Amino acid sequence: MKAGFVQFEPIFGDIGLNIENVERLTEGINAELVVLPELFNSGYLFTSKEEAFSLAEEIPAGRTTGELCRIARKRNIHIVAGICERQGDKLFNSAVLVSPEGYRGVYRKMHLFNEENIWFQPGNGGFQVFDIGACRIGIMICFDWFFPEAARILALNGAHLICHSANLVLPYCQQVMATRCLENRVFAVTANRTGREVRGGNDFLFTGKSQITGPQGDILWQ
Ligand code: ACM
Repeated sequence: MKAGFVQFEPIFGDIGLNIENVERLTEGINAELVVLPELFNSGYLFTSKEEAFSLAEEIPAGRTTGELCRIARKRNIHIVAGICERQGDKLFNSAVLVSPEGYRGVYRKMHLFNEENIWFQPGNGGFQVFDIGACRIGIMICFDWFFPEAARILALNGAHLICHSANLVLPYCQQVMATRCLENRVFAVTANRTGREVRGGNDFLFTGKSQITGPQGDILWQ
């Protein structure tokens, strides 16, 4: 099968533009599966709970999941994409899976990083595995890489490939994902974002360097 990622710079707060950019960047793509970064639609550095709520959407009823379903159908691809999710009065740092046939499911990030703990609840849906025809996939979001249990549970649940949506700021993850793949005999697609966000007293430089890693601990694409 062919899998890939879209590495780009989401613009904070401009959901329409971020979706438009993903649609443009996937034009002519030849793959069964494409992974997008964490919080690709909203951007990362929220400065208040109100701001995070204003950019959050229901899944699957919200705008971004609907637009991703439309793009997945048009391009004939599966997409895993990080979205700021609202469920009632709770927010989750989530990633959806959509297929050419429509919405398939959601993963809610378990291991929240730093100030994410102010905005988001830790994930409550476990580590599900989805059969997409060509293989079975699981989903992790960014800082989940730090905890070996995440990839191990997905592998034990039958995943062949881990879709890893990321907004990385630390330099260690790419090397660690090679080990996660080796110890669990899985492939992984780490889709990281680029660019810088300076908001609310934070200054985050996102490190790019997205990669596809194989079960021999080999970097297949960087
Ligand atoms: C992170 O989990 N976004 C570093």
